[in-house]
Amino acid sequence: MTAAEGEIVAGSRLLERAQTEVVEATDRLFDQLLPIPDDPRDRLYEAMRHAAIGGGKRLRPLLVRAAGDLYHVDRTPTLRVGAAVEAMHVYSLIHDDLPCMDDDDLRRGKPTVHRAYDEATAVLAGDSLHALAFEWLVDPATHADPFVRSELIRELAHAAGPAGMAGGQMMDLAAETAQFDLPTVTRLQQLKTGALIAFSVEAGAILARIPAEGRTPLRGYARDIGLAFQIADDIMDVEGDEQLADKALHKDEAAGKATFVTLMGLDRAREQARALVDQAITHLAGFGDEAALLRAIARYIVERDH
Ligand code: IPE
Ligand code: IPE
Ligand code: MG
Ligand code: MG
Ligand code: MG
Repeated sequence: MTAAEGEIVAGSRLLERAQTEVVEATDRLFDQLLPIPDDPRDRLYEAMRHAAIGGGKRLRPLLVRAAGDLYHVDRTPTLRVGAAVEAMHVYSLIHDDLPCMDDDDLRRGKPTVHRAYDEATAVLAGDSLHALAFEWLVDPATHADPFVRSELIRELAHAAGPAGMAGGQMMDLAAETAQFDLPTVTRLQQLKTGALIAFSVEAGAILARIPAEGRTPLRGYARDIGLAFQIADDIMDVEGDEQLADKALHKDEAAGKATFVTLMGLDRAREQARALVDQAITHLAGFGDEAALLRAIARYIVERDH
C-alpha cells in the first residue's frame, strides 16, 4: 500500500468512528431537547421526534465537529451547533417532502411526516424545528461568549433564508419549467444545499473565534464539497438504489428538472464531483493531521450510496 492509500484507509476508519459517535450523540441530544409535553401539543413534538431522531447521515453535525477539531474546540459546543443545523436541515426536508413541493412518501426509510401525521402537523413541525435551531444556539450552553452566539445565529439565518436554502428551493421549483444553464444550476445548488453545509464548516471556526479573514481555506473547502455533495445527490437520483437511499429516487427527470446530470451527463457529472473533492482537499493543504476528518468527509461525499 502506498502512503497515499494508507492515508485514505486511515481516514475512512476515522470517519466511521466519528460518524457513529456523532449519530448517537445527536440522537441523544434531540431526545433531551424534544421532551413530549403532557398537553395537546404532544402530537407536534411526536412529529418533530419522528423526523429528527433515528435516521440520516448527520453530515452537517459531523462537519461542525470536524471543523471544530481543526481548532481543538470542545465537543459539547460542536454537538449543540450540530443539533441546531441538523434541526434546520430536518425542517427543510419535512417541507421539501410536502405535497406542494416534492410530494414524497418516504424519508430516511420511514413515512414522511405528512404521511405519518398530517400536512398541517408537518408544516408546524418544520416551523418549530426552524425556531428551535435559533433557541438552541442562543443558549449560553452553546458558547459562553455572546458575540460567538450572535455570529452563529446571523450565519445560520443567512444560510437558511432567501439568500440560502429557501432561495435555492425556490430556484429548484423554477428549474422544472425554466431552461437553466450550468452557472444557474450551480448557483441553485450552492443555495439549496451548499449554504447549510458551508454554515456547518464555518461554525467550527466561529466557535474557535477565528476571524473571518482566517477562514478562507475552510470556505473554499465548504464550497467545493457542497457542490460535490449535490452532484452526488443528482447522480444518485438517476442511478441510485432506493433500498440503500431510504427515499424515493428518479424524481428529478420525471419533474423535468435541470440538474448537473441532465446538463453534463452522468460521466462528466461524476468527473466533476471527483475534481471538486480533490480541490476541496487542496484547500486544506495548510493543515496537518487535525484536518484528517475533513479530508475523509470530502472523499465520502462522492462515494456514498445513500
Ligand atoms: C438530502 O440531504 C437533501 C439534500 C440536501 C440533497 P442528506 O443527503 O444530507 O440527507 P440525510 O440527512 O442523510 O437524510
Ligand atoms: C432538497 O433537495 C434540499 C432541501 C431540503 C433544502 P432534494 O429535493 O433534491 O432532496 P431529496 O432528494 O428529496 O432528499
Ligand atoms: Mg426538492
Ligand atoms: Mg425532495
Ligand atoms: Mg435529490
